[in-house]
Amino acid sequence: MSNRILFATSEAYPLIKTGGLGDVAGSLPRALLNSGNDVRLVLPAYRQILENTQSVRTLCDVNINDLSGRVLQTTLPGSRVKTWLIDCPQYFNRPGNPYVQKNGQPWEDNAQRFSFLCRVIAMLASNKLGLDWSPDIVHLNDWQTGLVAPLLDGHDDRPAILFTVHNLAYQGVFDYDTFTSLDLPMDLWHFERLEFHGQFSFMKAGLVYADKINTVSPTYAREIQTNEFGCGLEGLLLHRQSDLSGILNGIDTRDWNPGTDDHLKQTYNRAQLRNKHINKQALQKAFELKQSDDILVLGLVSRLVYQKGIDMLIEALPDLLKHRIQLVLLGSGDAGYETDLQELANAFPGKLGVQIGYNEALAHQIEAGSDVFLMPSRFEPCGLNQMYSQRYGTLPIVTPVGGLADTVTDTQEMTILDKTATGFVMEEVSTAALIEAIHSALMYFQQLKIWLQLQRNAMSQDFSWKKSAAEYLDLYKKALAK
Ligand code: ADP
Ligand code: GLC
Repeated sequence: MSNRILFATSEAYPLIKTGGLGDVAGSLPRALLNSGNDVRLVLPAYRQILENTQSVRTLCDVNINDLSGRVLQTTLPGSRVKTWLIDCPQYFNRPGNPYVQKNGQPWEDNAQRFSFLCRVIAMLASNKLGLDWSPDIVHLNDWQTGLVAPLLDGHDDRPAILFTVHNLAYQGVFDYDTFTSLDLPMDLWHFERLEFHGQFSFMKAGLVYADKINTVSPTYAREIQTNEFGCGLEGLLLHRQSDLSGILNGIDTRDWNPGTDDHLKQTYNRAQLRNKHINKQALQKAFELKQSDDILVLGLVSRLVYQKGIDMLIEALPDLLKHRIQLVLLGSGDAGYETDLQELANAFPGKLGVQIGYNEALAHQIEAGSDVFLMPSRFEPCGLNQMYSQRYGTLPIVTPVGGLADTVTDTQEMTILDKTATGFVMEEVSTAALIEAIHSALMYFQQLKIWLQLQRNAMSQDFSWKKSAAEYLDLYKKALAK
């Protein structure tokens, strides 16, 4: 069956990306289109998008209270996905990151910005802007789009709504004065609706009002129903248990393919794994590390935030670097971690390479040039880099949480024998377990034959969208049936 799907997001690669949501919103809509659905992607017209996109045309004007904006249309580069950009210069045409200012603090008008976005999406979803297109399904992603769900509530012929949680830790919570300033129906201020401990939450709006809720891995779907991972919303999620499921993210196998990757010094594949070394050498050279094939190179590309367990790595590093180990790290985020890492890099020249910033090409080069990829996350809804790593024959070291637990098979005697081992799963979330996993990787790294087999196992995994896109179509069907 073919569906008309309005896919709403606050970022989509390659137009704009800050993390994994960008990757997913840049690839799932294409997979849905390729399986015969009519898909429209909708997101804000940030300055960065307007500056870098050529063929944009205006579809219509939109006025909400005293604010005016426009709906623009373009195509998601590298695809045929029709993309609607919500243009409101006051809110979206500004330099920098979609969510935070230069100092890392959220933009002060985020509630206004994203409620404007939600209002326009709700109008598009109910075909109120004269575009002669109405979706069967509105697929909302994360808090920035959460308000769409209550805004559509009560309309008899409204589309079915799926709300996907990519990260429960970011909820879009604002105070009462902000709530009243947004001109929302007053009855939404209620503890069974948007109110959340004396404030109100965009995330909760999505969770309460969507027909179906999902998150990006089966394990995270279970975890968020507990007090440890539920970020205060576990009660609501438990209550909605029968509508909650987990679908593992897929990856864009075109962008992340070591056999064709333009960013690499040397492409390679399973049959020519030897060529991977050329990328390792290039990486060591770029970071002025000692050039040697038999030193284990660890890679890490990440937002530098508490979620990602960066503090555990910082604690472990001085000791680890006494061994035949190097680390290459790319990331940006909390100023404290950035400073600590740069200081460590100065203390361990030739062993530790740190680049602070965001760099798409370097992210690919680290995936290809490292032997092992580190993801010691405290929680991880899905995680994409552990899947990219496996595709690049770079064995991931991960914590046993969320999507990491669902996508990496630990290396043990049994899993070596039956060729299912694809990486290293830490015993628990702790610095000690991280150190132990790295030592275990170092031990196997010295057994060339086993290591090659592990790389081949990892590279044989299928993380394409094929299976997961079909699961989304199934879930749309269930949402429609409600
Ligand atoms: P999250 O969405 O929590 O940040 P994911 O693993 O789902 O984590 O996705 C992160 C994505 O962002 C990956 O594609 C990763 O390569 C990319 N990324 C993170 N930090 C950087 C960076 N500093 N430079 C380039 N890419 C980055
Ligand atoms: C979030 C999560 C990450 C997930 C991504 C895409 O940012 O932190 O685990 O992979 O969304 O779903």
